[in-house]
Amino acid sequence: MPGASEQITRLLDEGMAAIAAARGESDLLDAKGRFFGKKGAVSAILKGIAALPAEERKAVGEMANRARAGLESAFDARLSEIREKERLVREGRERIDVTLPGRGPMPGHRHPVSQTMSDIISVFRRLGFSVQGGPDVETDYYNFEALNFPPEHPARDMQDTFYVESAAGDLVLRTHTSPIQIRTMERMKPPVRIIAPGTVYRSDSDITHSPMFHQVEGLAVDRDITMADLKGLLTEFCRMTFGPGKPLRFRPSYFPFTEPSAEVDIRCVICGGSGCRVCKESGWLEILGAGMVDPSVFGFVGYDPEEYAGFAFGMGVERIAMLRHGISDIRLFFENDIRFLSQF
Ligand code: PHE
Repeated sequence: MPGASEQITRLLDEGMAAIAAARGESDLLDAKGRFFGKKGAVSAILKGIAALPAEERKAVGEMANRARAGLESAFDARLSEIREKERLVREGRERIDVTLPGRGPMPGHRHPVSQTMSDIISVFRRLGFSVQGGPDVETDYYNFEALNFPPEHPARDMQDTFYVESAAGDLVLRTHTSPIQIRTMERMKPPVRIIAPGTVYRSDSDITHSPMFHQVEGLAVDRDITMADLKGLLTEFCRMTFGPGKPLRFRPSYFPFTEPSAEVDIRCVICGGSGCRVCKESGWLEILGAGMVDPSVFGFVGYDPEEYAGFAFGMGVERIAMLRHGISDIRLFFENDIRFLSQF
Protein backbone atom coordinates (compact mmCIF):
# COMPACT_ATOMS: atom_id res chain seq x y z
CA MET A 1 0.00 0.00 0.00
CA PRO A 2 2.10 2.88 -1.30
CA GLY A 3 0.31 5.72 0.44
CA ALA A 4 0.27 3.97 3.84
CA SER A 5 3.19 5.75 5.44
CA GLU A 6 2.00 9.15 4.22
CA GLN A 7 -1.42 8.33 5.51
CA ILE A 8 -0.03 7.44 8.94
CA THR A 9 2.08 10.59 9.05
CA ARG A 10 -1.00 12.66 8.19
CA LEU A 11 -3.12 10.89 10.81
CA LEU A 12 -0.40 11.44 13.38
CA ASP A 13 -0.27 15.18 12.59
CA GLU A 14 -4.03 15.55 12.61
CA GLY A 15 -4.39 13.50 15.78
CA MET A 16 -1.74 15.53 17.54
CA ALA A 17 -3.39 18.75 16.46
CA ALA A 18 -6.80 17.54 17.66
CA ILE A 19 -5.34 16.54 21.01
CA ALA A 20 -3.57 19.88 21.39
CA ALA A 21 -6.74 21.73 20.45
CA ALA A 22 -8.93 19.82 22.92
CA ARG A 23 -10.46 22.24 25.48
CA GLY A 24 -11.94 19.66 27.80
CA GLU A 25 -12.11 15.96 28.46
CA SER A 26 -14.91 15.39 26.01
CA ASP A 27 -12.94 17.00 23.13
CA LEU A 28 -10.08 14.73 24.04
CA LEU A 29 -12.18 11.57 24.09
CA ASP A 30 -13.60 12.60 20.79
CA ALA A 31 -10.09 12.88 19.28
CA LYS A 32 -9.18 9.49 20.72
CA GLY A 33 -12.22 7.92 19.11
CA ARG A 34 -11.42 9.38 15.73
CA PHE A 35 -7.69 8.69 15.59
CA PHE A 36 -6.48 5.88 17.82
CA GLY A 37 -9.43 4.34 19.66
CA LYS A 38 -10.61 0.82 18.82
CA LYS A 39 -12.54 2.16 15.86
CA GLY A 40 -10.17 4.98 15.04
CA ALA A 41 -8.22 5.58 11.85
CA VAL A 42 -4.94 4.09 13.09
CA SER A 43 -6.65 0.86 14.10
CA ALA A 44 -8.23 0.72 10.69
CA ILE A 45 -4.77 0.85 9.12
CA LEU A 46 -3.51 -1.92 11.41
CA LYS A 47 -6.50 -4.03 10.51
CA GLY A 48 -5.74 -3.49 6.82
CA ILE A 49 -2.14 -4.65 7.21
CA ALA A 50 -2.94 -8.24 6.25
CA ALA A 51 -3.86 -7.03 2.81
CA LEU A 52 -0.49 -5.39 2.29
CA PRO A 53 2.39 -7.00 0.47
CA ALA A 54 4.53 -8.96 2.97
CA GLU A 55 7.56 -6.66 2.63
CA GLU A 56 5.55 -3.61 3.66
CA ARG A 57 3.68 -5.16 6.55
CA LYS A 58 6.44 -4.89 9.10
CA ALA A 59 7.36 -1.28 8.37
CA VAL A 60 3.75 -0.09 8.17
CA GLY A 61 2.85 -2.05 11.31
CA GLU A 62 5.71 -0.56 13.25
CA MET A 63 4.93 2.92 12.04
CA ALA A 64 1.26 2.62 12.90
CA ASN A 65 2.03 1.25 16.36
CA ARG A 66 4.49 4.08 16.99
CA ALA A 67 1.94 6.58 15.81
CA ARG A 68 -0.63 5.11 18.14
CA ALA A 69 1.80 5.09 21.09
CA GLY A 70 2.69 8.71 20.34
CA LEU A 71 -0.94 9.72 20.21
CA GLU A 72 -1.66 7.84 23.42
CA SER A 73 1.06 9.55 25.36
CA ALA A 74 0.05 12.96 23.95
CA PHE A 75 -3.49 12.11 25.00
CA ASP A 76 -2.39 11.24 28.55
CA ALA A 77 -0.30 14.39 28.84
CA ARG A 78 -3.11 16.61 27.57
CA LEU A 79 -5.62 14.88 29.87
CA SER A 80 -3.58 15.66 32.94
CA GLU A 81 -3.05 19.21 31.70
CA ILE A 82 -6.80 19.70 31.29
CA ARG A 83 -7.53 18.18 34.71
CA GLU A 84 -4.93 20.36 36.37
CA LYS A 85 -6.37 23.46 34.75
CA GLU A 86 -9.89 22.52 35.87
CA ARG A 87 -8.61 21.94 39.38
CA LEU A 88 -6.98 25.38 39.47
CA VAL A 89 -10.14 27.04 38.20
CA ARG A 90 -12.23 25.21 40.78
CA GLU A 91 -9.87 26.06 43.60
CA GLY A 92 -9.72 29.67 42.51
CA ARG A 93 -13.48 29.79 42.68
CA GLU A 94 -13.66 28.02 46.02
CA ARG A 95 -10.65 29.63 47.59
CA ILE A 96 -11.12 30.80 51.16
CA ASP A 97 -9.36 33.94 52.26
CA VAL A 98 -8.33 32.94 55.75
CA THR A 99 -7.20 36.47 56.52
CA LEU A 100 -10.74 37.91 56.28
CA PRO A 101 -12.30 38.80 59.64
CA GLY A 102 -14.80 36.17 60.77
CA ARG A 103 -18.53 36.68 60.84
CA GLY A 104 -19.30 36.84 64.55
CA PRO A 105 -22.56 35.65 66.08
CA MET A 106 -25.16 38.43 66.31
CA PRO A 107 -24.74 39.90 69.78
CA GLY A 108 -28.03 39.62 71.64
CA HIS A 109 -29.12 41.43 74.75
CA ARG A 110 -31.49 40.93 77.60
CA HIS A 111 -35.22 41.12 77.10
CA PRO A 112 -36.68 44.55 78.04
CA VAL A 113 -38.69 42.93 80.84
CA SER A 114 -35.54 41.31 82.28
CA GLN A 115 -33.69 44.62 81.96
CA THR A 116 -36.41 46.49 83.82
CA MET A 117 -36.61 43.73 86.42
CA SER A 118 -32.91 43.92 87.17
CA ASP A 119 -32.97 47.73 87.23
CA ILE A 120 -35.78 47.63 89.82
CA ILE A 121 -33.88 45.03 91.85
CA SER A 122 -30.70 47.07 91.81
CA VAL A 123 -32.52 50.20 93.00
CA PHE A 124 -33.88 48.32 96.02
CA ARG A 125 -30.58 46.61 96.72
CA ARG A 126 -28.95 50.01 96.93
CA LEU A 127 -31.68 50.99 99.37
CA GLY A 128 -30.83 48.06 101.66
CA PHE A 129 -33.23 45.32 100.50
CA SER A 130 -32.19 41.71 99.90
CA VAL A 131 -33.73 39.43 97.27
CA GLN A 132 -35.90 36.43 98.15
CA GLY A 133 -37.55 33.82 95.96
CA GLY A 134 -40.31 31.25 96.21
CA PRO A 135 -42.18 28.64 94.15
CA ASP A 136 -44.36 29.55 91.15
CA VAL A 137 -46.78 26.79 92.12
CA GLU A 138 -48.08 27.84 95.53
CA THR A 139 -50.46 26.51 98.07
CA ASP A 140 -53.74 28.31 98.56
CA TYR A 141 -52.53 29.00 102.09
CA TYR A 142 -49.49 31.07 101.08
CA ASN A 143 -51.07 32.74 98.08
CA PHE A 144 -54.34 33.72 99.76
CA GLU A 145 -55.12 32.55 103.26
CA ALA A 146 -52.07 33.77 105.16
CA LEU A 147 -52.42 37.04 103.29
CA ASN A 148 -55.79 37.45 104.92
CA PHE A 149 -57.95 36.40 101.97
CA PRO A 150 -60.36 33.99 103.69
CA PRO A 151 -61.94 31.29 101.49
CA GLU A 152 -64.79 32.79 99.45
CA HIS A 153 -63.49 36.33 100.04
CA PRO A 154 -64.47 38.47 97.01
CA ALA A 155 -60.94 39.95 96.80
CA ARG A 156 -59.85 36.56 95.43
CA ASP A 157 -61.85 37.25 92.29
CA MET A 158 -59.57 40.14 91.36
CA GLN A 159 -56.73 37.67 91.19
CA ASP A 160 -58.45 34.70 89.63
CA THR A 161 -55.73 32.29 88.69
CA PHE A 162 -54.85 28.88 87.31
CA TYR A 163 -55.54 26.01 89.68
CA VAL A 164 -53.36 22.94 89.79
CA GLU A 165 -54.85 19.59 90.80
CA SER A 166 -53.01 17.88 93.58
CA ALA A 167 -53.61 15.26 96.21
CA ALA A 168 -51.63 17.42 98.64
CA GLY A 169 -54.34 20.08 98.71
CA ASP A 170 -55.24 23.25 96.83
CA LEU A 171 -52.44 24.46 94.61
CA VAL A 172 -52.44 27.57 92.45
CA LEU A 173 -50.05 29.27 90.09
CA ARG A 174 -49.23 32.22 92.34
CA THR A 175 -51.15 35.39 91.52
CA HIS A 176 -48.59 37.69 93.13
CA THR A 177 -45.21 37.30 94.79
CA SER A 178 -46.66 38.20 98.21
CA PRO A 179 -46.50 34.52 99.31
CA ILE A 180 -42.72 35.00 99.37
CA GLN A 181 -43.28 37.61 102.08
CA ILE A 182 -45.11 35.06 104.22
CA ARG A 183 -42.45 32.41 103.62
CA THR A 184 -39.72 34.91 104.49
CA MET A 185 -41.40 36.02 107.73
CA GLU A 186 -41.81 32.37 108.72
CA ARG A 187 -38.06 31.98 108.33
CA MET A 188 -36.69 35.20 109.81
CA LYS A 189 -37.28 37.52 112.70
CA PRO A 190 -37.45 41.31 112.17
CA PRO A 191 -35.81 43.48 111.03
CA VAL A 192 -36.87 42.32 107.55
CA ARG A 193 -36.13 44.23 104.37
CA ILE A 194 -36.70 42.10 101.31
CA ILE A 195 -37.91 42.25 97.78
CA ALA A 196 -39.57 39.35 96.01
CA PRO A 197 -39.20 39.34 92.23
CA GLY A 198 -40.83 36.67 90.11
CA THR A 199 -43.33 35.41 87.59
CA VAL A 200 -47.03 35.53 88.46
CA TYR A 201 -50.15 34.18 86.77
CA ARG A 202 -53.69 35.44 86.46
CA SER A 203 -56.63 34.51 84.34
CA ASP A 204 -56.48 37.86 82.58
CA SER A 205 -55.65 38.90 79.02
CA ASP A 206 -55.96 42.21 77.15
CA ILE A 207 -53.65 44.96 75.91
CA THR A 208 -52.50 45.83 79.42
CA HIS A 209 -52.85 42.39 81.06
CA SER A 210 -51.08 39.15 80.32
CA PRO A 211 -51.87 35.73 81.87
CA MET A 212 -48.21 35.54 82.87
CA PHE A 213 -46.34 38.63 84.01
CA HIS A 214 -43.63 39.68 86.43
CA GLN A 215 -43.77 41.40 89.77
CA VAL A 216 -41.39 42.84 92.27
CA GLU A 217 -42.89 43.06 95.72
CA GLY A 218 -41.23 44.43 98.80
CA LEU A 219 -41.58 44.11 102.54
CA ALA A 220 -40.03 45.92 105.48
CA VAL A 221 -40.81 44.97 109.08
CA ASP A 222 -39.19 46.54 112.10
CA ARG A 223 -39.99 48.50 115.24
CA ASP A 224 -41.34 51.97 114.49
CA ILE A 225 -41.90 51.55 110.76
CA THR A 226 -44.46 54.08 109.56
CA MET A 227 -46.24 55.07 106.39
CA ALA A 228 -43.71 57.92 106.08
CA ASP A 229 -40.97 55.30 105.53
CA LEU A 230 -43.05 53.74 102.77
CA LYS A 231 -43.65 57.11 101.10
CA GLY A 232 -40.00 58.06 101.33
CA LEU A 233 -38.85 54.76 99.87
CA LEU A 234 -41.30 54.75 96.98
CA THR A 235 -40.59 58.40 96.20
CA GLU A 236 -36.91 57.55 95.97
CA PHE A 237 -37.66 54.47 93.87
CA CYS A 238 -39.64 56.58 91.39
CA ARG A 239 -36.92 59.19 91.22
CA MET A 240 -34.32 56.52 90.45
CA THR A 241 -36.53 54.74 87.94
CA PHE A 242 -38.31 57.53 86.08
CA GLY A 243 -35.91 60.38 86.69
CA PRO A 244 -36.14 63.40 89.02
CA GLY A 245 -39.04 65.80 89.13
CA LYS A 246 -41.82 63.31 88.42
CA PRO A 247 -44.62 64.00 90.89
CA LEU A 248 -46.31 61.00 92.45
CA ARG A 249 -49.40 60.62 94.54
CA PHE A 250 -50.75 58.09 97.00
CA ARG A 251 -54.39 57.23 96.49
CA PRO A 252 -56.41 55.22 99.05
CA SER A 253 -57.10 51.64 98.00
CA TYR A 254 -57.84 48.23 99.40
CA PHE A 255 -55.83 45.02 99.79
CA PRO A 256 -56.72 42.35 102.34
CA PHE A 257 -53.15 42.18 103.65
CA THR A 258 -52.48 45.89 104.14
CA GLU A 259 -54.24 48.52 106.23
CA PRO A 260 -54.25 51.32 105.29
CA SER A 261 -53.69 50.53 101.61
CA ALA A 262 -52.73 52.82 98.79
CA GLU A 263 -52.08 52.83 95.10
CA VAL A 264 -49.25 54.97 93.82
CA ASP A 265 -49.57 56.97 90.62
CA ILE A 266 -46.94 58.91 88.71
CA ARG A 267 -47.51 61.88 86.43
CA CYS A 268 -48.50 60.56 83.03
CA VAL A 269 -45.31 59.94 81.04
CA ILE A 270 -47.13 60.60 77.78
CA CYS A 271 -48.91 63.93 78.35
CA GLY A 272 -47.09 65.22 81.41
CA GLY A 273 -50.37 65.66 83.26
CA SER A 274 -52.53 67.59 80.80
CA GLY A 275 -54.66 64.53 80.10
CA CYS A 276 -54.53 62.01 77.24
CA ARG A 277 -55.88 58.63 76.19
CA VAL A 278 -53.18 56.66 77.97
CA CYS A 279 -53.98 58.20 81.39
CA LYS A 280 -57.69 58.34 80.55
CA GLU A 281 -57.60 62.14 80.87
CA SER A 282 -56.62 61.91 84.56
CA GLY A 283 -53.00 63.01 84.16
CA TRP A 284 -51.86 60.09 86.37
CA LEU A 285 -50.74 56.52 85.81
CA GLU A 286 -50.96 53.81 88.44
CA ILE A 287 -47.66 52.06 89.03
CA LEU A 288 -48.01 50.01 92.19
CA GLY A 289 -50.00 48.91 95.21
CA ALA A 290 -48.77 49.38 98.76
CA GLY A 291 -49.76 49.70 102.37
CA MET A 292 -48.99 48.98 106.02
CA VAL A 293 -48.94 45.26 106.75
CA ASP A 294 -52.27 44.24 108.29
CA PRO A 295 -51.76 43.00 111.90
CA SER A 296 -53.73 39.85 111.04
CA VAL A 297 -50.97 38.87 108.55
CA PHE A 298 -48.46 39.09 111.41
CA GLY A 299 -50.75 36.71 113.28
CA PHE A 300 -50.16 34.04 110.58
CA VAL A 301 -46.37 34.22 110.90
CA GLY A 302 -46.06 34.67 114.67
CA TYR A 303 -44.89 38.30 114.71
CA ASP A 304 -46.25 40.41 117.57
CA PRO A 305 -48.20 43.30 116.02
CA GLU A 306 -47.78 45.29 119.24
CA GLU A 307 -44.04 45.18 118.82
CA TYR A 308 -43.59 45.37 115.06
CA ALA A 309 -45.00 47.28 112.14
CA GLY A 310 -44.27 46.94 108.47
CA PHE A 311 -45.05 48.10 105.00
CA ALA A 312 -45.37 46.20 101.75
CA PHE A 313 -45.60 47.17 98.12
CA GLY A 314 -45.92 45.38 94.82
CA MET A 315 -45.50 46.40 91.22
CA GLY A 316 -45.86 44.86 87.78
CA VAL A 317 -42.56 44.85 85.91
CA GLU A 318 -44.15 44.93 82.43
CA ARG A 319 -46.15 47.98 83.45
CA ILE A 320 -43.01 49.81 84.57
CA ALA A 321 -41.24 48.80 81.33
CA MET A 322 -44.23 50.03 79.28
CA LEU A 323 -44.16 53.40 81.05
CA ARG A 324 -40.42 53.79 80.68
CA HIS A 325 -40.41 53.00 76.98
CA GLY A 326 -43.85 54.29 75.97
CA ILE A 327 -45.15 50.85 74.92
CA SER A 328 -48.90 50.61 74.64
CA ASP A 329 -49.52 46.85 74.24
CA ILE A 330 -48.20 44.36 76.82
CA ARG A 331 -48.45 41.48 74.33
CA LEU A 332 -45.48 42.85 72.38
CA PHE A 333 -43.23 41.61 75.20
CA PHE A 334 -44.23 38.01 74.62
CA GLU A 335 -44.38 37.79 70.83
CA ASN A 336 -40.57 37.71 70.61
CA ASP A 337 -40.51 39.69 67.39
CA ILE A 338 -36.86 40.61 66.95
CA ARG A 339 -37.81 43.97 65.34
CA PHE A 340 -39.53 44.95 68.59
CA LEU A 341 -36.96 43.50 70.97
CA SER A 342 -33.90 44.93 69.22
CA GLN A 343 -35.10 48.47 70.03
CA PHE A 344 -34.22 48.18 73.71
N1 PHE B 1 -49.92 41.75 95.93
C1 PHE B 1 -50.60 42.88 95.35
C2 PHE B 1 -51.03 42.53 93.96
O1 PHE B 1 -50.45 41.69 93.33
C3 PHE B 1 -49.74 44.12 95.32
C4 PHE B 1 -49.45 44.62 96.69
C5 PHE B 1 -48.35 44.20 97.34
C6 PHE B 1 -50.27 45.53 97.30
C7 PHE B 1 -48.04 44.65 98.61
C8 PHE B 1 -50.02 46.02 98.55
C9 PHE B 1 -48.89 45.58 99.19
O2 PHE B 1 -51.94 43.11 93.43
